[in-house]
Amino acid sequence: LTIYRKDYTAPSYLVDTVELGFDLDPARTIVANRLTMRRNPASAQREIELYGEDIELVALRLNGKALGKREYRLDGNLLRIPNAPEEVTLEIETLCAPEKNTALSGLYVSNGNFITQCEAEGFRRITFFPDRPDVMAKYTVMLRADKERYPVLLSNGNLVDEGMLPDGRHYAKWEDPFLKPSYLFALVAAKLVCQEEKFKLADGREALLQVWVEEGNLDKTDYAMQSLKKSIRWDEERFGLELDLDRFMIVATGDFNMGAMENKGLNIFNTKYVLANPRVATDIDFQGIEAVVGHEYFHNWTGNRVTCRDWFQLSLKEGLTVFRDQEFSGDMIGTSTGRAVNRIDQVRTLRAAQFPEDAGPMAHPVRPDSFVEINNFYTVTVYEKGAEVVRMYQTLLGREGFRKGMDLYFERHDGQAVECDDFRRAMADANDRNLDQFERWYSQAGTPVVRAQMRYDEQQHAVELTLSQSCPATPGQPEKLPFHIPVAVGLVGRDGRDIPLVIDDQERGTTTVLELTGAEQTFRFTSVPQQPVPSILRDFSAPVVLEYDYSDEDLLHLFSHDSDPVNRWEAGQRLAMERLLRLTEDVTAGSRLQLDDTFIEAMRKVLTDESLGPAFREQALLLPTESMIAEQTDVVHPLSIHMARQFVRSSIGNRLRAELLAAYDANQTPGQYSPDAESIGKRALKNLALGYLAAASDDEGIALAERQFDEADNMTDRAAALGALVHARAPAAQRALQGFYDEFEKEALVVDKWFAMQASSPSTDVAAVRELMKHPAFTMKNPNRARSLVFNFCMANPVQFHVPDGSGYAFWAEQVMALDALNPQVAARLARAMDRWRRYAPALQAHMKQALKQVNGLKKLSNDVREVVSKALA
Ligand code: ARG
Ligand code: ZN
Repeated sequence: LTIYRKDYTAPSYLVDTVELGFDLDPARTIVANRLTMRRNPASAQREIELYGEDIELVALRLNGKALGKREYRLDGNLLRIPNAPEEVTLEIETLCAPEKNTALSGLYVSNGNFITQCEAEGFRRITFFPDRPDVMAKYTVMLRADKERYPVLLSNGNLVDEGMLPDGRHYAKWEDPFLKPSYLFALVAAKLVCQEEKFKLADGREALLQVWVEEGNLDKTDYAMQSLKKSIRWDEERFGLELDLDRFMIVATGDFNMGAMENKGLNIFNTKYVLANPRVATDIDFQGIEAVVGHEYFHNWTGNRVTCRDWFQLSLKEGLTVFRDQEFSGDMIGTSTGRAVNRIDQVRTLRAAQFPEDAGPMAHPVRPDSFVEINNFYTVTVYEKGAEVVRMYQTLLGREGFRKGMDLYFERHDGQAVECDDFRRAMADANDRNLDQFERWYSQAGTPVVRAQMRYDEQQHAVELTLSQSCPATPGQPEKLPFHIPVAVGLVGRDGRDIPLVIDDQERGTTTVLELTGAEQTFRFTSVPQQPVPSILRDFSAPVVLEYDYSDEDLLHLFSHDSDPVNRWEAGQRLAMERLLRLTEDVTAGSRLQLDDTFIEAMRKVLTDESLGPAFREQALLLPTESMIAEQTDVVHPLSIHMARQFVRSSIGNRLRAELLAAYDANQTPGQYSPDAESIGKRALKNLALGYLAAASDDEGIALAERQFDEADNMTDRAAALGALVHARAPAAQRALQGFYDEFEKEALVVDKWFAMQASSPSTDVAAVRELMKHPAFTMKNPNRARSLVFNFCMANPVQFHVPDGSGYAFWAEQVMALDALNPQVAARLARAMDRWRRYAPALQAHMKQALKQVNGLKKLSNDVREVVSKALA
C-alpha cells in the first residue's frame, strides 16, 4: 500500500494531554492511556482515528463509559470511533510483550532492560494513538516496575515523583512540559549507572546532564559527556539556541536499529555512538560520537521544538540537523584545513552512497512524494543530500543571512509541525530573496550534472565560463527542470595563485558564487592576464557531478596549487579516477597493467609536502572507493575494479616505499592517546602508509604492522595494524585475529570490529562467512552484530560477494529472509545491497535477478523488504 504526500489531510481530532501508566513486565506489560482530545476545527472528519500494532486491546472508555463492540471499529491497525463528541476523554488499556519484540520498534527488551524506539511509527506498538507527527500533546508518564531488576526508571522531561510500591516494586512519575509528537516519546526501565554533571547554560540556569550505561561501561562515557557539553555551548553560540529543560539524559543500548534517537530530554543511543575509551574505540569512533551526540542534541530545536507535519517532510529535521552537526564538527576542529578534511569526508560519503542511491531503483527526492514504508526513507538522500540542500542556503545567503533565516523560522514555527516549504520561505523572507526555483531541490530526484566549458580571449583578457545543467531521469520522473545551483568558482593563474575575479566591472574576490538557474548560462570574467585553470565547485558548493575536460596538466596544477583544499583534493581524485577506470578495463581485457610516473610523482609530491597537514595528505592519497569507481563504469565488473584498485595500491606501496616508511616514522603519536584533530590526522596518514606497504606485501611493512599490532596502546593503531595484516593475508594474520578476539571478547563493540574486519576481507568467501555465523558470539538478533558480519560481507566485500557462481547472492537472499522474520527494518537495509543489480555484467545480473525474485516470491514478507525488492525488480 503506497502512501502519497498529496493525500495529506489534517487530523480529525487533536490531543491536548496524554497520561500513560506502565506496569512493566517483559512478558506482559499493561499500558493505561488516558487522552483528552477535541475535534480539530481544521478538519471536516468526525471520526477519531487511532493506530495500534501488535498490541492487544483490553479496554476502551469514552468520557467514562465503556465502548461496546458496535461503537468502534478495529480493522487491522486502525481503530475508529465514529460520531464522537466535540470533547473527548479516551481511556485505553492494552497489553504488549516487550520480550517478544525483536523488531526493536516500540517497547522492547535489550539485555534485560526496557527500551523504546518510537520514530517513525513505533508509538502505535505501545498504545493506540493518532500516531502522526502533526498531533502534538503534553505527556505525563507513570512507570511501575520491579525495583531490583529495574532500579532506574526514566522518561521525557522532569521527574516529579517517585516512591515504593508493594511486592518490591517502585514507581517514577515524569512530566514533559513541552508539546511533542508521539514519535518523541521514550521510556527506559533498566539496571544502569550514570556519569552526571551540572552544566551552566548561557542564561545562568543549571542543567543536569547524565549519560546512562550498563555497569561495566562507566569507563567509556567521558567523551560522550564532553561532546554533549560542547554541543550545548555550540548551539548557544552559533544559533542562539538554548537547552530548554533542567535535565538532559543520554542512554546507551546495545540493541538499536539505527544510530540514535532524539526523544525529548531522553536521547537513546546505540552503544556505538556513546561508549569510547582509547583501548576499545578508534579515532573514527570518537569522531562519530561527537557528531551523533551533537546531532541528537541539535534535534531538540530542529525536530522537537519545530517538528514535521508528515513523514514526507523528514528532511526538514534530518537534513537541517545533519547540516548542523557537520558545522559543529567543523567548528570543533577549528583550523581551515581541518575543516576542509571534514568537508572532504562529507563529499566522499555523498559520492560513495548517495549518488548511487539517486541513480538506482530507490531514488527519491529529498522530500519524497510517496512511500510504502517510511522506515525505508531514512536514507542518505533525506539525510546527507538534505544537508547539502541546507548548506546551499548558507552558500547563497552567507552565514549571516542563513542565521537570519533560522531566527525567522523559529519565530514563526516554534511549537508547530511544518513542511520543508516553510523552512525555505523563512530563508527567503528573512533575506528578501526569491527562492521559488530552489524548491526543485526538494521535489526532483537524481544527481544533476553540471557541464563547464571555458574560453579564454587573449585579446580582451577575458574568460567566458559556460555552465550547463541536466539531470538524469529517475523512477516516476522522466523529465527534470533546471535547478538553482550555487557554483563557487575561482581562476588559478600560471603562478598557482588565484586571479582576482571581475564580473561586470565588479570585484568579486578570489572565489565567487555563480548562480546557475537556467539550462545554460555564460559568465564573463574580465582582467584576466593569462589563460587560467578554472577551479569549479569549490568547497563542493552543490551536490552535483561536475564535468570539465581537464587535461592531466591542469589537474596537476590544481593538485599542487588550488587555494581551495577541497578542489585541490578533487584534482587528485580525478587523476586517480581516470587511471582506475582505464586499469579496470585493462583487467577485464586481460591487458598488462601499468601505472604512469606522472601519477606516482604527483602522489610522491603530496606525500612529502610538509606544508600540508597529515590529515589532508591522507585524504589526498586515499583512492576513490570501489563503489565510486563502479558508478563511473557502464558495465560493472567488481573483480576488475577491485584488482585495478589493488594494483594502484600496491604500486603506490612499491614505488613510494621510502617515502611511506618515512611518513610512517614521522607521524607517530607518542605519549598519551588523544583524539584531537592533529593526532587523528597523524595516525590516519601513518596507518594509510602502513596499509599501502602491506598492500605491496612489503616485508618491512608487514613487520611494522605486526609490531604495531603487538605494541600499540590504542584501538586506532591496533585495528589498523590488524586490518593491514588481514587484508594482505599476512602469515601473522590468523594469530593476530585470535589474540584480538581473546583480548576483547567481553567488549561487544570490539567483537563487532573483529567480525567486520573478516567479513570485508577479500580472503573471506561465502563459506567462511557461514562458518563465522556459527561462532558463539554471532547472533542475527543484534543489529550491530548482523551488520558487522552479514552486511559487511554483502556490502563491503565486492570480490567475494559477487563471485561468478552467484553463491554470494543466494547467501544474501537467505539472510534477508531470515532477518525479515526478526527485524524488518534491518532486513530492508540489507535488501538494498542489490540496488544496482542492473549495472552488473550480464552473467552476474542473471544471478542477482534470481535472488531478488526468490525474496520477492515469499508470501510472508514485511512491507519494508517488499518495497525494496519490488522496486529493484520494477
Ligand atoms: N531521528 C533519528 C536520527 O536521525 C533516527 C531514527 C530513525 N529510526 C527509524 N526507525 N527509522 O537521529
Ligand atoms: Zn536525526
